[in-house]
Amino acid sequence: LRLAEEFGTPLYVLSEPEFRRRCAEYARSWALGGVSYAAKANSSLAVLAWAADEGLGVDVASVGELEAAHRAGVPGSRCRLHGNFKTTDEVAAAAGLGVGEIVADSLGEIEALAKAGWQSRVVLRLAPDVEAGGGSKISTAGTDTKFGMSIATGDAAQAVRRCLELGLRLHGYHCHVGSMLMDEGPVLAAARVLASFAAEAGSATGYWPESLNLGGGLGVSYVPGQEPLAPADYCAKLSAAVRPLLTGRLEGTSVELEPGRSVAAPSGVTLYRVGVIKRSSAGVRHVIVDGGMSDNPRPALYGAQYSVVSDAAGPPEPATVSGRHCETDLLFPGTMLPSGLREGDVLQVLCTGAYNAGMASNYNRFLRPASVALRGDGSARLVERRETLDDLFRREEALAR
Ligand code: LLP
Repeated sequence: LRLAEEFGTPLYVLSEPEFRRRCAEYARSWALGGVSYAAKANSSLAVLAWAADEGLGVDVASVGELEAAHRAGVPGSRCRLHGNFKTTDEVAAAAGLGVGEIVADSLGEIEALAKAGWQSRVVLRLAPDVEAGGGSKISTAGTDTKFGMSIATGDAAQAVRRCLELGLRLHGYHCHVGSMLMDEGPVLAAARVLASFAAEAGSATGYWPESLNLGGGLGVSYVPGQEPLAPADYCAKLSAAVRPLLTGRLEGTSVELEPGRSVAAPSGVTLYRVGVIKRSSAGVRHVIVDGGMSDNPRPALYGAQYSVVSDAAGPPEPATVSGRHCETDLLFPGTMLPSGLREGDVLQVLCTGAYNAGMASNYNRFLRPASVALRGDGSARLVERRETLDDLFRREEALAR
């Protein structure tokens, strides 16, 4: 409430201690290799600096995210560049910033990397044909996926041969099966596929990977009933099951993780102010807040649910929380909110630290919210100011007339 007064709404609030604690939990619990934070979940400069400070690498999926890591003070050598189509400029920028590792996603990209004289590590994103994740838009390794090189079609084996022929520094294999996973099962299934591919490719070519990267994907609890493993338990179960796969020439191979959501989401909440409360003819209590799909597109995109909290008085009653965009942007339908909720009250939406600020847009020329970071002592610091109208028109004002 105090923060809503001081910084205005909508407002993204991030807990620095919670974010750091979650990074440290991964770093401490995962003994098989390195852990990188997936910047796409939340690439605020402050956030990237916390992740690096806690000893995590940073995964970037574009030149913008790479530049964010750079500006946050993360050395390129600790960054890994992803992407299923990296432009020539992106690859050049990555080389310029000394990116430690690139994840090649297609056979053509391997040729392009060799042509560009790529010097640092290359890992191959493989498609292990494992269907998983909390919805079709965030499943990334089924048989119809656009990501990675298919083991089944032979592209993956061809990729290994080409990397060796071209003299690229092949470091290992990568997969990412999907997001919002509740346990280690799907990632373990993919790990088995990677390990057996590594063994086959090893006996065919003599190449043995130094690293197997199992991606991110652990889910969080947005609403009651979603009960994913805690990162420490996930790491314990996954490493216990993966360790026996690392036998023979795979002994000593490091296994990497790259979580995003499970680090960032629970570290953030969004504050909105209620602008309008009205009842529809069907009796729906509409609670309209001062944000919408521009600051959180996940309900509209994925049907994502959230927990909404208010400290207004009265028994909980059904409400539909909507945004103020010019369309039916149901943010949080079917929520229970106190009967005494009034216009002007503040709502707190939980678990919004991942894929909210990073996916925000300017639809309807809305200004993107500010982000504040809470320190351990409860004090707050602005880490990204609210957009201004000047920000909004900077790209076109000199051009339009
Ligand atoms: N590594 C790779 C290669 C990825 O593609 C992703 C996420 C991650 C790691 C991190 O996954 P996480 O631990 O966050 O599940 N916008 C969607 C999520 C898209 C995830 C894409 N890839 C959403 O809001 O649900």
